[in-house]
Amino acid sequence: MENTNENFINATNKSLFSREAFQPHSILQYLTKSWLFIALLGQWVFASYIFIRFAIPTFSGNLSSADTVGLIKGYVDGDGIGNSMLILHLLPAVLLTYGGMLQIIPQIRKKYPTFHRWNGRMFLTLGLLGALTGLYLTWVRGSRLSDIGAIGVTVNGLLILVAATLAWRFAVKRQYTNHMRWAIHAFILINGVWLFRLYIMSWFIMNQGGNGNTEEMDGPADIFLSFASYLLPMLIAEIYFWAKRQRSKFRVNIANVFMLFGLLITLVGVVAASLFMWWPIIAP
Ligand code: HEM
Repeated sequence: MENTNENFINATNKSLFSREAFQPHSILQYLTKSWLFIALLGQWVFASYIFIRFAIPTFSGNLSSADTVGLIKGYVDGDGIGNSMLILHLLPAVLLTYGGMLQIIPQIRKKYPTFHRWNGRMFLTLGLLGALTGLYLTWVRGSRLSDIGAIGVTVNGLLILVAATLAWRFAVKRQYTNHMRWAIHAFILINGVWLFRLYIMSWFIMNQGGNGNTEEMDGPADIFLSFASYLLPMLIAEIYFWAKRQRSKFRVNIANVFMLFGLLITLVGVVAASLFMWWPIIAP
């Protein structure tokens, strides 16, 4: 096992044009780095969108209905508890989305361990808060377009509670392999709503419009994507962990096919969601 890890690290330290650069382990590493880079850009565009659309008006004392037009319920005059839950759901998402990605970048983890610990506490705490307030908004406040269409995001919210708790417990117990595994799953789940937007936009691009989608988000494609947007990346993460332990080039290449698929969906989704959903709000 130790040898395999060493091979993996050596393979990833070779120059871009050497023969080793085309070894399956090196390709795995390039695909991972490319995914991190594209995801970082996409997350920061999403965070900037939330900041400009919701945080600035709230801090200037005005989360009026105009600011939340387009949401399912948004701001409702006189609904103190519901509005507070909405604010508690939306505002932490800014910090969460700007900070989350920094947890995964290995250089930051190694060079600034104290930052990693505090940013990790922030990320998991706000992730738990996002899941709890999201569940409240969906099932208590009734912010859902259809019951069946809300099941995917509900399971997402429940899994956040499990994954974030496990990631935290393994970190406290200093079981770092387990911690890393659950922290990655928590990261994917907490970013499930962002991933859903990428997947649905990629779907629209592929089909040149809706196909199996409805206004109530209860079409077969809506339901499939509401689960796939976090289950597929979680599966790819498991395949990545598995590939890192493999010596067989064939097996690592199989993992690379999955990684490439995940990378392409992310790339198309980030470009499409940024252009059509977020950029028009950031730079109208
Ligand atoms: C923890 C990670 C989460 C983050 C970062 C997050 C972020 C957001 C953002 C930015 C919006 C505004 C939508 C937009 O303008 O495009 C939103 C709305 C909403 N989210 Fe989440 N969310 C999370 C988890 C959840 C979960 C797990 C649920 C449900 C179980 C949920 C339910 C909702 C609902 C119902 C709305 C619409 C509220 C309304 O229409 O009034 N969220 N969320």
